[in-house]
Amino acid sequence: NDLLPVITDKETEDNLNIAAAELVNTDNVVAFPTETVYGLGGSGLRDESVKAIYKAKNRPSDNPLIIHVSSIDQLKRKLLPEDVDIPIVYKDILERFWPGPLTILLPIYPGSPVSKLVTANQNTFAVRLPSHPVARALIAMSDTPLAAPSANASTRPSPTLASHVYHDLQGKLPYILDGGACEVGVESTVIDGLVKPPMILRPGGVSVEDIKLAGGEAWKDVILAKKTAGKLEPVRTPGMKYRHYSPTAKVVLFINCKDGVDAIHKYLQTENINSKETKIALLRSINFSTKDVIDSNIYLQRDLGSTGQQVSHNLFALLREVDELGVDLILAEGIDETDEGLAVMNRLSKAAIQVIDGIDI
Ligand code: TXA
Ligand code: MG
Repeated sequence: NDLLPVITDKETEDNLNIAAAELVNTDNVVAFPTETVYGLGGSGLRDESVKAIYKAKNRPSDNPLIIHVSSIDQLKRKLLPEDVDIPIVYKDILERFWPGPLTILLPIYPGSPVSKLVTANQNTFAVRLPSHPVARALIAMSDTPLAAPSANASTRPSPTLASHVYHDLQGKLPYILDGGACEVGVESTVIDGLVKPPMILRPGGVSVEDIKLAGGEAWKDVILAKKTAGKLEPVRTPGMKYRHYSPTAKVVLFINCKDGVDAIHKYLQTENINSKETKIALLRSINFSTKDVIDSNIYLQRDLGSTGQQVSHNLFALLREVDELGVDLILAEGIDETDEGLAVMNRLSKAAIQVIDGIDI
């Protein structure tokens, strides 16, 4: 039996019913909140609705989508052959992290109902069981596994508020379910346990450290997919081939800057950048948490947060916020690539056109 999350207010229930009916009866897409980022969902079993997803986002169709299920029960009932179980390599990890910000790869079994457009013709499909009650209720009420990429226009930062979805996709979809701010703020971790050693294809809401801890022997030598792909390789991780997570303003990333204030002053001087020609935003993070940068060239500053978890929660929202305030250049302070920091730095380095390494200055 599928356990439905308890939805207690009538308006939410009515809206969920409307959105679920849309998913069942039409090929339209619906945006909905998850604990990571907002998703743009359509039936993962029908080509037409998957086409509608790619079209709304303007996403290249060789970048495969994640299927979202409301329960392990639904996964087995709808997507796996009767005599097949989830591969044992995932057992401990799923017990620990599902529902939650983790996506696994499964083989495409003979007779699989998953649309070929979801997988971009790979012999695996990606699946995730989100923890957000609205996401799970929507999937359960439509009883449809939903293909759902992040609900941003392709190349833009992922949406962590309903208003971000509206900004990018207004006019392209009938409904956005508003569930407030997404708690995690970066996308799910994508793992492949079907290869040996297993791989992390995208760092995300569950850290590599936690996967190694929970996964036991099979996962202790897990390797991280390399960050760039040759033109002809199938796209194995997001952003390997395409511009990604980018606001309109240019992003410059600062790493290894013990005293970030100093590094930023030096950078502006060396590059001869000033406020007459360039509106500059500064996104401070852990090293900056207690002090402002006093520099007449900085137009505005924001705090990403003082822990990896906070930075991850705030990153995309702040990139969008300062972008909309019309800045030309965003200077962002990086964080350590441990725990939540790995996913944060993966997204920031893909958004950035330039990285300034404190070791060089
Ligand atoms: O947190 C998330 O995962 C969010 C929310 C909405 O659930 N979704 C999301 O989807 O980030 P998307 O489409 O933006 O990123 C999914 C990534 C793809 O870019 C792709 O690289 C990887 O997952 N992926 C999907 N299927 C795959 C496959 N069969 N093999 C390898 N990678 C795959
Ligand atoms: Mg995305």
